[in-house]
Parts: sequence; C-alpha cells; structure tokens
Amino acid sequence: MEQIEIQSSESISGTILVGECGVNLEPYRDIFVVVDKALEGKVTLGGEGGVLSSLNARGVKYVEASEKTKTMETVLEICSWLLEKGADRDALVLAVGGGITTDMAGFAASIYKRGVRFAFVPTTLLAQVDAAIGGKNGVNFEKYKNMLGVIRQPVFTLVCPSLLRTLPFRDFLSGAAEMLKTFVIEGLEHYERAANLLGIFREEVDSGRPFREVLEENVVELTALIAAAARVKAGVVSRDCNEGGERRKLNLGHTFAHAVETLCRRREDGASLNLSGCASGIDCMFTHGEAVSIGMLLAARLAQRVAQTTQRAFQRDFASRLEQDLKAVGLPVECPFALGDMAEAMSRDKKAQEGIVHFVLPFGIGDVDMVDMTVDQAISLLS
Ligand SMILES: NC(=O)c1ccc[n+]([C@@H]2O[C@H](COP(=O)([O-])OP(=O)(O)OC[C@H]3O[C@@H](n4cnc5c(N)ncnc54)[C@H](O)[C@@H]3O)[C@@H](O)[C@H]2O)c1
Repeated sequence: MEQIEIQSSESISGTILVGECGVNLEPYRDIFVVVDKALEGKVTLGGEGGVLSSLNARGVKYVEASEKTKTMETVLEICSWLLEKGADRDALVLAVGGGITTDMAGFAASIYKRGVRFAFVPTTLLAQVDAAIGGKNGVNFEKYKNMLGVIRQPVFTLVCPSLLRTLPFRDFLSGAAEMLKTFVIEGLEHYERAANLLGIFREEVDSGRPFREVLEENVVELTALIAAAARVKAGVVSRDCNEGGERRKLNLGHTFAHAVETLCRRREDGASLNLSGCASGIDCMFTHGEAVSIGMLLAARLAQRVAQTTQRAFQRDFASRLEQDLKAVGLPVECPFALGDMAEAMSRDKKAQEGIVHFVLPFGIGDVDMVDMTVDQAISLLS
C-alpha cells in the first residue's frame, strides 16, 4: 500500500492510501457511511472481501449521485440524517462513491456541528486521481457548478483500483482525461505510460473483451499511474492549498470544458441557443472528462497561437500529438459548439474576473503556464 501525504503550511493534512482495499477502521468509533445509491449491491463495504476490514458503522445512507442532485438540499439531507443518528463531534463521515458523492459528503461533514472528520473511498477513476484528493468539497448552486463549498481535507482517501471493475467504460474514460491532464502538467514519463496503457484499454474493450477482465490484467500498471497522479495532485495542493497560484494549473482544459458543459446543459434545458456548428441530433451530453478532453485540446491550440505571437517556445507537434493520443484513448476532441457560443459561456465562468480569464495553457508536456487574457482575445487567437 503506497502512502502519500498532503501537508500544507496551514497544517492541513490528509493521507492518501493507494493499493488494495481492507483498511482497518478500528481507531474510528463513530462511523457514518454515505454511499452512492448506484453502488447498492456492487460494492461490499465491510467484512470478508469488503472495502474496509472492520466496519463498525453507526449507519449507512444512500444518496443519488447526479449533477442535478449535487445540491445544498442533498447536503442538508445528509446533515439531518447525521443529527437523527446522533452523530457528535467524534464522528467520521465515510463517503463511498464517485466525485459527486465525495464532494457532497465532504461538504456536509465540513459544516455539520462546525465540522467533523471525513474520509473517502473513491469508486471512479476520476475521483481516485482527482476529485477525492485536495479537499475541495462543493455543490452546484443556481446555474453554477460547484458554486458553494469549502476546502477541507479528508483524514484519509483510500484508493482501491479494483473497485473500478463495475464502472461503465465511458466513466473510466472520463477519469482517463483527468489522468492525462495531470501528466501533461507533470511531464513526459508518466504521460507516455498513461497514454500507452489507456490506449491498450481502449483497444481491448473495442475488441469485445469485458472491461473487468482488462482491468484485472492491467491493474498493477494502472495502480502505479493512479498513485503517480495522486502524488502530483497532493504535491500541488500541499504547496498551494487555497488555489492562489500553482493549484490553478490543475484547471488545465477546464475553462473551455465548463463552457462546453454549460452549453450542453442549456441545450438539455431546451433554452433557445443558436447551435451553429453543432449538428442536430449530436450527443452533446459529455461526461466531465470528455469535456476536459475537448477543453485541453482547445487550450493547446490557444497556447500554440500565443507562442507564435509572443515568440515563446512551444513543443514541436505537441497539439497534434495530444489530439492523436486523446483520440486513441477514445476521448472526443472536436468542440461541437461555435466559438461565439463558447465565448459567451466562458465570460460567465465563475472564475472570470472583470472579463479576464486565467487561461492555463500547455506549451508542451511538462510545460504549462497561466496566461491572463480576455475571452475576446482568446477567441480571436483561436479563430
Ligand atoms: N472536489 C474536486 O476537487 C473535484 C475535482 C474534479 C471533479 N469533481 C467533481 O466530481 C464529479 C465527477 O466525478 P465522477 O466522474 O466520479 O462522477 P460520479 O460521482 O457521478 O460518478 C460517475 C458515475 O459512475 C457511477 N459509479 C461510481 N462508482 C461506480 C462503480 N465503482 N461502479 C459502477 N458505477 C459507479 C455513479 O453512480 C455515476 O453514475 C463532478 O461533480 C465534479 O464537479 C470534484
């Protein structure tokens, strides 16, 4: 079992354990488990073959994990349940599920009785490499994603790659995008290993082999890469917990991704939108990782244009290599929306300050910088 520590100057700490399941929870007495409803019957919590070797839970609450239910109402529902069960300040809230479940349960635990301890057992690749690490716990509010929330670290995050065996392949790919993003920020060695492994997953699953089998065969290399991605995120969070600088790099691709997700949601809501460039009937319901894949490539193209106009170095063929690798893994790369629609959605991004956006631009693998510009400037460079 690999152990990775998050340690910031503000003495905010958390331990990430990567390896096999079976953590001993004896030191914790009052455990309250919040589980994604979709995992009922799919994941054994305690006992023989369970995620946790000893689970002395005072209660288990199943929650519906969807972006629509990732709201303050569900957080308050978890708080009411904790109160009803008599959870006191010694309680440990243990969230088992993907990023939606860990975000909601982490938030509820952070506000219940001014904050009780919480821990995560992430069950999606996206949560194992990203969402369950770093202490951001938030919910959607009004029309904005993750608008309400806190930064507070879980006491531990237990990452068991074998829990991914029941995950739909599309959700696995969503996490693959965040993993590749992390390694674009970090550097070549892990990026190449990840692109290679994820390409194998894609080929094997396309050839008709069950995902569970492919996972079992490649679990050692996958575990090593998940641990590497967790180390990168833990390192960044330890140096910049409150996202004043370096942590923003982890948003690579996200400014464009959030615009894609906003436009998809509006389309789903049936709002009138000029979907020029988006063929009717196209499936616009991207997962978060798919939107990040599209966003990363747009960011790479923008970086290339910025490099051309400022004489900054840009790794030769980087944008086309990234495009090829994302496609080989099975991720989408084409933005279905017109740049004008993207611009309008980006200018409403909660991270935009007085029209200026901190774009995270990849100039190559392991060469990512933050560049401030207006949405109009970015769009005109991309046009
Ligand atoms: N807190 C952070 O720093 C952070 C970072 C990135 C993303 N996020 C958030 O994470 C969310 C996305 O995370 P996600 O992709 O894990 O979403 P998710 O929790 O919705 O999980 C994706 C789908 O997989 C299902 N599922 C989960 N584990 C499964 C398993 N083992 N077997 C079968 N099905 C399983 C879920 O029911 C869901 O349908 C977004 O809301 C995003 O905002 C947070």
